Amino acid sequence: MDKNNLQWLEKTKKEAAKYPEAFQYLLDRLYYAEQKNEKLEQLLDNYKSENKKIPVILEQETAEKFLNLLGELINERNEDKLFDKIIKGLRSVFGYDRAGLMLYDDQTEKIECVRSLGLPVSYTESLHIHPSETEGEKMRNHVARCFSERKSFFITDRFKEKKFNVRMKDEQRVYSTQYAVAPVYGKTKTYGVITVAVQPHNKYFMTENEIVILEFVSHQIGSIIENSTLNAKIETFYKDLIVTFSNLIEDRDKCTAGHCGRLVLYSQVIGEKLKLNNAELREIELAAALHDIGKISISDELLNKPGKLTNEEYEEVKVHAAKGAEIMKPFSDYKNVISAIKYHHERWDGAGYPEGLKGEEIPYYARILAVIDAFDVMINFRTYKEPKSIADAKKELKKYAGTQFDSELCRFMTDLSDEEIEQIQKS
Ligand SMILES: [Fe+2]
Ligand SMILES: [Fe+2]
Repeated sequence: MDKNNLQWLEKTKKEAAKYPEAFQYLLDRLYYAEQKNEKLEQLLDNYKSENKKIPVILEQETAEKFLNLLGELINERNEDKLFDKIIKGLRSVFGYDRAGLMLYDDQTEKIECVRSLGLPVSYTESLHIHPSETEGEKMRNHVARCFSERKSFFITDRFKEKKFNVRMKDEQRVYSTQYAVAPVYGKTKTYGVITVAVQPHNKYFMTENEIVILEFVSHQIGSIIENSTLNAKIETFYKDLIVTFSNLIEDRDKCTAGHCGRLVLYSQVIGEKLKLNNAELREIELAAALHDIGKISISDELLNKPGKLTNEEYEEVKVHAAKGAEIMKPFSDYKNVISAIKYHHERWDGAGYPEGLKGEEIPYYARILAVIDAFDVMINFRTYKEPKSIADAKKELKKYAGTQFDSELCRFMTDLSDEEIEQIQKS
């Protein structure tokens, strides 16, 4: 059982719905999530019996709010938004006066405060805590130990702590009656700590049980940070892979240097204007980068032949569209990308290749590619022709809108400002 697993939480939520005190059941389940022992079984069995004796961790109202917060945190993939939600959520759900998220910074090699509520900025900015720190203010030592030992600390009634005040500098006397520090860690790494505190005037009182909930939240956060780091790595790998493929094509076809890269940029600009969502943008970019990948199978002499091609040679070049789709076939999750590659030389009037598809029979991405591909070829040098001006290329697109190209898509391209186009040309 992995308590960091959303599925597990969803399943447990469903299970909880069977009990009269669903929230209480769920919280207890979270509390004991890692203690797969008889005591747990007994405790959970109690819910089914008439004379049940249930330990109360949180009041029902708080429990309800907490579970909603947890659901939000698990679904949040944006790190900045996640950090905000954690801090604001902890304060509003549990009524803490102060909440802070501190993460270890690889560069400074210190634990730094990345978000906080209820603390003076001058104070949080002064907190650069080394994981092995043992001197100075006690809270700093707890943060350091919590991080390096992956252990949470709960301090109640800090005024009773000996030497507490003595160890703090005057301007940094930040008093709390109670405070807790819990480690934020994933499977491979400890990322930092979460701190929460209650001030002397607050009627709210933290309990030992609640610290377990805090541990659970901080552990969740660790998993989410771990996932987002992993996603960022995959993203970089994916981008590098596309660049490698594009370079592979352009290396062979000398006069098309930069063509695939520019098509990626055009596809982004046009895709955004067409209001494509992120996944669709990703697909069209990929199709733009790889649209001519089939040229790999064409000989060097033919690819780089100066001047016009003979009919026979042209037929040979035309094969690249279908060949590209064939090369990409193993990427079966990317059917839209593959069809865009295959049909990027089809024409709206049906006179294109490889299959002579007509109008809306031509896949949408392929129609976009046809427009941006033709436009980029027109305004750049080729061995068989001089580049056209942007204005002339736009005229040409308008002329062939409705015969060669999807006229609606042509309009998106001709509506781009000269500056936007020049920007792409330069990059
Ligand atoms: Fe092509
Ligand atoms: Fe092309």
